[in-house]
Order: sequence, then structure tokens, then C-alpha cells
Amino acid sequence: MASVFHFGLLLLISGQLLLTATAAPTNSPEVTTSVTGCPSSQSDCTSGWVKFQGRSFKLLQVPLNFGFAVFSCFLRNASLLKIKTRDEIPMLAAMVHAANPNITSVWTGAIDTAGIFQASDRRWRWTDGSLVNKTYITDESDGSCIKMKTGGITMFKSEECDESLPYICSKNV
Ligand SMILES: *[C@@H]1O[C@H](CO)[C@@H](O)[C@H](O)[C@H]1NC(C)=O
Ligand SMILES: *[C@@H]1O[C@H](CO)[C@@H](O)[C@H](O)[C@H]1NC(C)=O
Ligand SMILES: *[C@@H]1O[C@H](CO)[C@@H](O)[C@H](O)[C@H]1NC(C)=O
Repeated sequence: MASVFHFGLLLLISGQLLLTATAAPTNSPEVTTSVTGCPSSQSDCTSGWVKFQGRSFKLLQVPLNFGFAVFSCFLRNASLLKIKTRDEIPMLAAMVHAANPNITSVWTGAIDTAGIFQASDRRWRWTDGSLVNKTYITDESDGSCIKMKTGGITMFKSEECDESLPYICSKNV
């Protein structure tokens, strides 16, 4: 099971809608159409990548459970969302809002590996195995996977991994 989590990340979003975002971040993301690893030539896979500070993000709006979202991002040569810097958080929230204001939560790639290994202490990790900075997580009372709430104040909250949510893939290019 662990190898399933050795995937990169990816975020999807509509670049056109981004241009009309009212909550645009100070560093406006630029849309790129170059992507490797897409499982098909569907426009969903080849467009909508948002570049921000050297990384790329794509919002996928069709809801999936956490495991399928991990796999979907993997097929796009990316990973379920890994946050690397705090600056990325407001940019991503604005990106989601711009694409579809009805979306209030998206999966991140953070999971409690204690759940996988049946250990008792919670250890939040990204899908590349690195530890999540716990200061990101504001509420870990529910499930073993972390969603980013984008409606209202942006926050990271645990959720049942079976829940189907839109998700963001990210990659380091
Ligand atoms: C992912 O990237 C690798 C290396 O660039 C490439 O060889 C591979 O074909 C890509 N995967 C898919 C599914 O396109
Ligand atoms: C948001 O929800 C409303 C009401 O259900 C719907 O009419 C609208 O099309 C939705 N917007 C998007 C972008 O999906
Ligand atoms: C976690 O994030 C906080 C706030 O951004 C930062 O001050 C701290 O250095 C980070 N910790 C690690 C281990 O990166």
C-alpha cells in the first residue's frame, strides 16, 4: 500500500475563469498547457495547469475519494496536492473559487499514515512520504485524510477518506 503514495502531485483549474477571479493573489498564476503524463488526450488533461512560483497546479472538479484522487494525479505525472510554501495556500483557494465558486472543499495529498500502519499516533504525511507541517492543519477531529476548505476562511481539516471531493494535483515543474 505504501508505494501507492509515492506519487507526485497535480492541481487542475480553468485558466479562463482565473482571469476573472476577484480574489486573485498578488502573484497572478500563469496558465500553461504543457503537461506530461496525461492518460489521454482529453482537454481535461492537457489544459488548466496553473504555474505558481515554479510549480504547477490543476483542479479536477469531478469528485473522487482520496485513493482514486491519488491515482488520478499519478496518471497525470503529478501528485495529489502537496503544499510547499504558505504562499501557495491563498493562491490555491483563489484558483478554486475562480474555477467554480460552488466548490467549498478539495482534497489535499495529506494522509494520516498511522491509519495505514494501524499505529496509534497520528502522523500526517504527503504522498511522497514527507511530513506535513502541522501548523497547516487546523482541525484533525474527523477522518484520516486532509481536505482544504476553500469556502470562507481557508483551512485544512481532516475528513473521511471515502468522501468524494474535487481535488488538486501538483507537480514541481
Ligand atoms: C510521465 O513522465 C515520464 C517521464 O517524462 C514519461 O516517460 C511517461 O510517459 C509519462 N507518463 C504518462 C502516463 O504519460
Ligand atoms: C453552482 O451552483 C448553482 C446552483 O446549484 C448552479 O446553477 C451553477 O451552475 C453552479 N456553478 C458552477 C460553476 O457549477
Ligand atoms: C511550519 O510552518 C510554520 C509557519 O509557516 C513555520 O514557522 C515553521 O518553520 C514550519 N516548520 C517546518 C518544520 O517547516
